[in-house]
Amino acid sequence: MKNLVEWRKARVASVTDVASDVRRLVFDVEGGLPAFDAGSHTNIKVTIGGKPAIRTYTCLPAGPGQLSIAVKLHEQSRGGSKYIFTLEPGMDVEITAPENRFELSWRASEYLLLAGGIGVTPIYGMAKALAKQGAKVRMHYAAKNCAAMPFVDELSDVLGDNLSLYASDEGQHVDLEREIADLPADGELYVCGPLGMLEAVKAAWAASGRPVSRLRYEVFGDNGKFAENTFQVDVLNKNITVTVPPDKTLLAALTDAGVEMIYDCQRGECGLCAVDIVEADADVDHRDVFFSEEEKRESRKMCSCVSRLTEGRAVIDIGYRA
Ligand code: FES
Repeated sequence: MKNLVEWRKARVASVTDVASDVRRLVFDVEGGLPAFDAGSHTNIKVTIGGKPAIRTYTCLPAGPGQLSIAVKLHEQSRGGSKYIFTLEPGMDVEITAPENRFELSWRASEYLLLAGGIGVTPIYGMAKALAKQGAKVRMHYAAKNCAAMPFVDELSDVLGDNLSLYASDEGQHVDLEREIADLPADGELYVCGPLGMLEAVKAAWAASGRPVSRLRYEVFGDNGKFAENTFQVDVLNKNITVTVPPDKTLLAALTDAGVEMIYDCQRGECGLCAVDIVEADADVDHRDVFFSEEEKRESRKMCSCVSRLTEGRAVIDIGYRA
């Protein structure tokens, strides 16, 4: 079962468009907030298709008692970003206090930061925090084009020549091997971006022979290799069939159907929500960073919070035994 969390009331203080389809919101939080580190996230209660849901967003630096997020409106969104884009100053929401699972270690002699698209949100806070402490830091920021990059001016102010921008529309790409090779032995790499970027970074890092503990990453939950389609799962020993529509995760469909699930991050990182795949008549679009490439190829398990069947039907085992 999900851990109990403490919800706080918050009111939208401001809404600002900070890049193409990217909006920054600042909330005044009732009762104030404890200080939080770069990389922290908050949960926000949203409404999707008329039903309550919870979405997780990175906390940006904000004023005392305030919390700020930046959200990209995704066409393929399951509804979280669409809801956030309906918020206006004065409207009330419920949030959780910031929590950090993507922390800076503060032990490296040099930091390499890598952001892809809206994955800049935790990296932006890290860049500011590292620069403020005088740490040695380089940042590479890639997106479809420059119009899709929020916070470029603020990042330029704190990083100067140590910030490099890459517009994939113009054929510009980060040379991962070279950037990793330039890091000292105790250097660390922090990356947040789409799944393809993370997989490329993990492969380059592994090829460099550096310790996995010095690579830290965070992924978006809604990045896949295939478009979302409806699929069905039969839950072993439960005698229940659940239909998963394109705008819902397998985890949400299971819990909505009354199936008790264990889960936590809902971002494909912790593996707590994994289910066994007994049989499937379609491919699995693995969208997590928890399983290895080999495990994803074998497809005996999948993280129900982010991964899905491309179509068709599967029998899954959630571990329930009568
Ligand atoms: S809840 Fe953490 S991987 Fe699904």
